[in-house]
Amino acid sequence: MEAPTKNLAMDLVRVTESAALASARWLGRGDKESGDKAAVDAMRKSFAALDIQGTVIIGEGEKDEAPMLYNGEKLGTGTGVRVDVAVDPVEGTRLLAFGRPNAISVVGVTPAGAMFNPGPSYYMKKLVGPPEVRGVIDIEAPVRDNLIKAAKALGKDVDDLTVFVLDKPRHAKLIEEIRAVGARIALHTDGDITGSLMAVDPRNGIDLMMGTGGTPEGVLSAIAIRIMGGILQAKLDPQKADEKSALLAAGIDTRPVYTEADLVKSEDLYFAATGISGGSFLGGVKFTGRGAVTRSVSMRGLTGTTRYIEAEHNFERLMRVSNVKYD
Ligand code: FBP
Repeated sequence: MEAPTKNLAMDLVRVTESAALASARWLGRGDKESGDKAAVDAMRKSFAALDIQGTVIIGEGEKDEAPMLYNGEKLGTGTGVRVDVAVDPVEGTRLLAFGRPNAISVVGVTPAGAMFNPGPSYYMKKLVGPPEVRGVIDIEAPVRDNLIKAAKALGKDVDDLTVFVLDKPRHAKLIEEIRAVGARIALHTDGDITGSLMAVDPRNGIDLMMGTGGTPEGVLSAIAIRIMGGILQAKLDPQKADEKSALLAAGIDTRPVYTEADLVKSEDLYFAATGISGGSFLGGVKFTGRGAVTRSVSMRGLTGTTRYIEAEHNFERLMRVSNVKYD
């Protein structure tokens, strides 16, 4: 494994800004494919200028379905550090298409060889919380026990807790169990990377994230969670017969519990995200007439530095130098 010694934190935030700016035009237009395509295109062009030897481990899918940012694609100028790259140009494509909060653009980078490759796994069961619940909660334990123990560790009553859960039919029992203990639930239709980040930082008013979401999203979340010192426990949780049989055919065991340190085996990590539709975690793109304002977060694992960045973009001047078109 090689260490990416150059600080990529600011370079990466420019990548997510560009994807957010390009896709934000599609807010509420009911067309998730076009919003995603705009973000993918902008993100890829922005990566092309970076002095990295990147390989996409988590991208838009296999090459045959994804013409750009596909798994295995090489990114960057081909000089500089060798890194694994995870991208989610639009996390929450439906949130963007329907103008709902919390669509974000996300990238994560680890040294080459350090990132968990989801292979044929689409879904993962996840339990995420702040540093205080490390060694306290356990994904294999009953929901009730975890909530009672987490509340104690956080110095709260159980009915003060708020748990982020994706609003999916598969979570009916989980929701019932949380309600039975008296904890509060924040139900979101999509976006469990945002949910995970909110659960790790107490300023967001979310104490835990529970339930099953995407495996790629789990790995991307693990990068930020590891940098922030939070905890993630996860288990592959195939949802459909074809996913189950693909895992079986690849000889992948669904029993192990992965932590954030298993999913990203290095502390030399980078994570950047920019808000697209806006929400309590990150404000969205605001068009100003002559440009736009973006809000982003950028994190570096080695130093633990987290930056919240508000950027003003002037489209006329940007167009003179940028290879991405935003107007
Ligand atoms: P997309 O941006 O790819 O649409 O993902 C949104 C999302 O809600 C993720 O945050 C989550 O991990 C996953 O979808 C859950 O998948 P599903 O909607 O199939 O349950």
